Amino acid sequence: MHTLAVARAVRGIEPLVAAEIRRAGLGVVRGVRHREVWFEPADPGPELLELRMADDVLLVAAVVEGAGRDKESLTRLTRAARELDAESLTKLAQRITGSPYGVRDGGVEVSASFVGRRNYSRFDIEDAVGAELARPAGLAYHSRRDGRVPPEGSMAWRVTVEGEQAVIALRVPARPLHRRSYKTESIPGTLHPPVAAAMAGLARLDRAATVLDPCCGAGTTLIEARALAPRTRLLGLDHDPHAVHIAAANAARDAALGLAARGVARAIAWSVADAGRIPLPGGSVDRVLVNPPWDRQVAPTGRLRRDPARLWREIHRVLAVGGIVVALLPEPWQPPGFTVNRMVHLTLSGRHPVIAVLRRSASRG
Ligand SMILES: C[S@@+](CC[C@H](N)C(=O)[O-])C[C@H]1O[C@@H](n2cnc3c(N)ncnc32)[C@H](O)[C@@H]1O
Repeated sequence: MHTLAVARAVRGIEPLVAAEIRRAGLGVVRGVRHREVWFEPADPGPELLELRMADDVLLVAAVVEGAGRDKESLTRLTRAARELDAESLTKLAQRITGSPYGVRDGGVEVSASFVGRRNYSRFDIEDAVGAELARPAGLAYHSRRDGRVPPEGSMAWRVTVEGEQAVIALRVPARPLHRRSYKTESIPGTLHPPVAAAMAGLARLDRAATVLDPCCGAGTTLIEARALAPRTRLLGLDHDPHAVHIAAANAARDAALGLAARGVARAIAWSVADAGRIPLPGGSVDRVLVNPPWDRQVAPTGRLRRDPARLWREIHRVLAVGGIVVALLPEPWQPPGFTVNRMVHLTLSGRHPVIAVLRRSASRG
């Protein structure tokens, strides 16, 4: 029997995750659904855990048809959970992670989500399958109902329901893939690492000598860029010295953790600077990755406080003609002096930002 895996993704970047799976030779993509990319792993191994644009990777245990709007669907889910082969799937997950995750500690937890209206809640779904998934291995089931939080190390199952179809799947890594080990320190408004990885992927870094993030915060864009382009010169600036300190610490942790897996990577240069006056000569940068301060959570400071548009004038100045900016923006926008290559519409934490891929024109128009 062929194994099917699901890469979970932020809404909007599913096609980029599918492309990442193909590019890395991880398997054959079988379909793209809401926040999911289904694929058949070529040879399920630890490489699956190297997916950077995916939020998580799961092994499909059962596809349940007839999961409609009514509560009878819950009975179907319970039956499917009772009948599926949890043991083989757990063994496969252990082979991929190389650890006895899921058997050792915490018991079983389930996290459910659905698209469309239902006469039951996510907790009803979770409880309908949780006890059945835990029973064969003699583990405890930890419900999330009433805000309870399952203990770390629990074997994590996911149920997604879309249309009339439900999928029961086992998460492979002990922690979701989007929770990066390097990112132990953070700032308000920091980027979700898989979105930063998608931005780096869209920037065509293979053709870049120098990449700048002028508002680098905790350093996520450049740390993710380094995973794609370990030899490229990466420069991170922020007006807030605390952010720069955190970015440097996160990058050092990433370098130490990634050394075994990816080998030596070039150090990222971090500095405190005002993006309203970037301390770089004109035309000296090939790519800009940026998540500008644009909402109440992170206000522009320094020269950008009175004149946020200065950021775009400065980016235009330091970028070489034909250079590319990949920016996460609250809404589609084309700054003067740039043409739009692509807009990727996301849904992220209840908002709908875009990743804008912009090319610098010869003049500011
Ligand atoms: C949305 S956050 C960036 C988050 C970052 N991408 C991350 O992953 O952590 C915006 C950043 O812009 C910085 N900022 C605000 N005004 C600035 C300015 N004038 N020059 C440089 N950085 C500025 C803030 O300190 C904050 O770190």
